[in-house]
Amino acid sequence: MKNVLITGGAGFIGANFVHYLRETYPGVSIFVLDNLTYAGNMANLRSLEGTDRFNFIRGDITDRDFVNDLFSKKSFDTVVHFAAESHVDRSILGPGAFINTNILGTFALLEAARATWDGNYSGKRFLHVSTDEVYGSLGAEGLFTEETAYAPNSPYAASKAASDHLVRAYFHTYGLPCVTTNCSNNYGPYQFPEKLIPLIIINGLLGKPLPIYGDGMNIRDWLYVEDHCSAITTVLEKGRLGETYNIGGKNEWTNIDIVNLVCDIVDEFVEGSEEYSKLYPLAGGRRGLITYVKDRPGHDRRYAIDSAKIEAELGWEPAESFETGIRKTVKWYLENRSWWEEIQSGAYRDYYEEQYGERLS
Ligand code: NAD
Ligand code: DAU
Repeated sequence: MKNVLITGGAGFIGANFVHYLRETYPGVSIFVLDNLTYAGNMANLRSLEGTDRFNFIRGDITDRDFVNDLFSKKSFDTVVHFAAESHVDRSILGPGAFINTNILGTFALLEAARATWDGNYSGKRFLHVSTDEVYGSLGAEGLFTEETAYAPNSPYAASKAASDHLVRAYFHTYGLPCVTTNCSNNYGPYQFPEKLIPLIIINGLLGKPLPIYGDGMNIRDWLYVEDHCSAITTVLEKGRLGETYNIGGKNEWTNIDIVNLVCDIVDEFVEGSEEYSKLYPLAGGRRGLITYVKDRPGHDRRYAIDSAKIEAELGWEPAESFETGIRKTVKWYLENRSWWEEIQSGAYRDYYEEQYGERLS
């Protein structure tokens, strides 16, 4: 790994990966390609700007001429492809961008890699970052394995499933050195406030309603983002080409349980600090802010990952316990108020109002 292209590196997981790679592989040259949609944020990469072997390129992965040109000018040996439209609720409001970026964008990158590497695949790797949502919804029992049939239920999941199939086809047809990872729900620093955990932390601090879709009994399998990053570098180093690897933390929670837990941790941090008590006053605990709202259409009931393959074959396992990871995350949002305030003062306000029927103050 010398020259690594990281698409979507200004988003949540991409930015965490950029920082992780810089720390664990300091000699590697990093090229972030991101067109800075609402979810991309240069503040996530600020500490790296102007440093050696870090390059930011603003561009759209769906622009085939631009992507081909970039590949022909830089000698990428490794591509880690995060760039995507990633939020299920937005894919319900407007699926077009998901089809465009997630399917056509992946196609453009695969084509550029195929043309530039031109059959010279030694030392090359294209890692496609995907999701467990491609497998659809589980009942009360069972886990998603790499053999589970694809059954995507949202436009987001369907677009990611299509991109996974393209990657598979490029390996089988052209021998492009591809590998795909399918990960469960991530949480941690830099996660955009539209997603459940940051939304609950921030609304909890501000004393706003904490919206729970449906009966709150949907289950997600949560993984600390840095563990996702370590799984990706493990697959880059040791994963077998043409394979897919599931990544998860064996950490299933109902939405209502995780929201209650986050409320309690926020209460504890706020009550334990004079400064935070003044900033975020609230009579009664944050659980009192929980509000059940209309369910997400087609809301998948349960996700749970069987990560036996990556553990047994590649020796990966998560390092962070949920107890420590969730506390680190709450602390990060407390200590980075300006990061989320800046987001809340922009276009996110309109989305929030459309989704929750309330204006952000
Ligand atoms: P995110 O929405 O936070 O970030 C996406 C990034 O991609 C942003 O920086 C955005 O600007 C960029 N981007 C979007 N469209 C682009 C385009 N056309 N050209 C260039 N850049 C573009 O997403 P995330 O949560 O960090 O997810 C990253 C990847 O991981 C996605 O592929 C997602 O499907 C996958 N994934 C996410 C999770 C999760 O829990 N968040 C879990 C499993 C897999
Ligand atoms: O499973 C991996 C996927 O996890 C990734 O592929 C997606 O990119 C990522 O966004 C995430 O998708 P989810 O839809 O599971 O995440 P989200 O944070 O939007 O929602 C988590 C659960 O919380 C889900 O059951 C819906 C529920 N929810 C969410 C929001 C935003 C609520 O009850 N209320 C809310 O306001």
